[in-house]
Amino acid sequence: MENTMDQYRVFGNPIAQSKSPQIHQQFAEQTGESLTYEKQLVDVEGFSAAAKQFFADGGKGLNITVPFKLDAFEFATQLTERAQNAGAVNTLKVLEEGSILGDNTDGQGLVSDMVDNLGWSLEGKNILVLGAGGAVRGVLQPLLEQSPARVVIANRTIAKALTLVREFKRYGKVQACGFVDLNEQQFDVVINGTSASLSGDLPPLPDMLLGEDAVCYDMMYGAEPTVFMQWAKQQGAKDIADGLGMLVGQAAEAFYVWRGVKPQVKPVITSLRKQMQS
Ligand code: ATR
Repeated sequence: MENTMDQYRVFGNPIAQSKSPQIHQQFAEQTGESLTYEKQLVDVEGFSAAAKQFFADGGKGLNITVPFKLDAFEFATQLTERAQNAGAVNTLKVLEEGSILGDNTDGQGLVSDMVDNLGWSLEGKNILVLGAGGAVRGVLQPLLEQSPARVVIANRTIAKALTLVREFKRYGKVQACGFVDLNEQQFDVVINGTSASLSGDLPPLPDMLLGEDAVCYDMMYGAEPTVFMQWAKQQGAKDIADGLGMLVGQAAEAFYVWRGVKPQVKPVITSLRKQMQS
C-alpha cells in the first residue's frame, strides 16, 4: 500500500538538539492529523539541493532553523508579508500549483505566548525590546500589530535599531535608542531579543526601568532562568517568562499554516518543561 502520510521535516545544522519533531508529533496526535515529522542535518552549503530533493520526493513542508533561515527566504517562490518583513523564513509549504510559500511564524509564536498563554495584554502598553538583530526583526510586525502605545528598540549598535525603525514605522509607533538612553524611562513590557543570554551576559540596564506591574520576557530559554530573567526578578517584575512558549508557539503557527488546524500549545509546553528539568 502506498504511504499516504504527509511528510514534514526540520532542516538545520546542528539539528540533534531540535525539539521540533517531538512538538509536531504531539500536535499530530492531539489533532488526529496524519503526518510524519523528522529532523534532517543539512550541509551548510547544501540547503537548496536538500530542499529541492525533499519537495521533489513529495514532501509537504519544512521548518528551517539555524543557519538556513536566509537560504529558505531565497528558496521560497512566494513570501508572506511577515516573512518579507522578517527577512527570514522558518516555514516552507508546498502550494497546490507546486510553488513554495515562505513564511515566518516566530513573531506570532512570541505574541501568542505572551497574550494567550501568559495572559499579558500588549494593547496600549509601553514595550521595550532589547536587541536589533535577526531575532528582533522577526517579531516586530506581529508585536506592532497588537497596538502597543509604542515599541522602543534599544541596541548596543544604535544604527541597527534605527534601520528597524525606518522599516517598521508603518506598523505603529516605534523608536530607537542606545542602552544609555534608557535612564529615566519606564516600560510595561521588556523583551530581551539580544543573543547576550547565550554567553551569560546582560545588556547594561538601569534600575527603575520597570514600571508598576511590568512583565519581562526572554526570547531565549533553558533549564535555568537566564541572566535577564534573574535581573527581572531582582527588579520586581510582576511576571517573567522565557522563550520556551515562543518555540512551541512558532511550531503551532507553522502547523496551522500547513494543516489549517490549530493545536493546543499548553500541554506541549508543560511536557517539554518537565523534560528539561528532569
Ligand atoms: P540573532 O539572530 O540572535 O538576533 P544577531 O542578528 O547576531 O543574532 O543579533 C544579536 C543581537 O544581540 C544584536 O542586537 C546584538 O547587538 P549589536 O547589534 O550591537 O551587535 C545583541 N548582543 C549580542 N551580544 C550582546 C551583549 N553582550 N550585550 C548587548 N547586546 C548584545
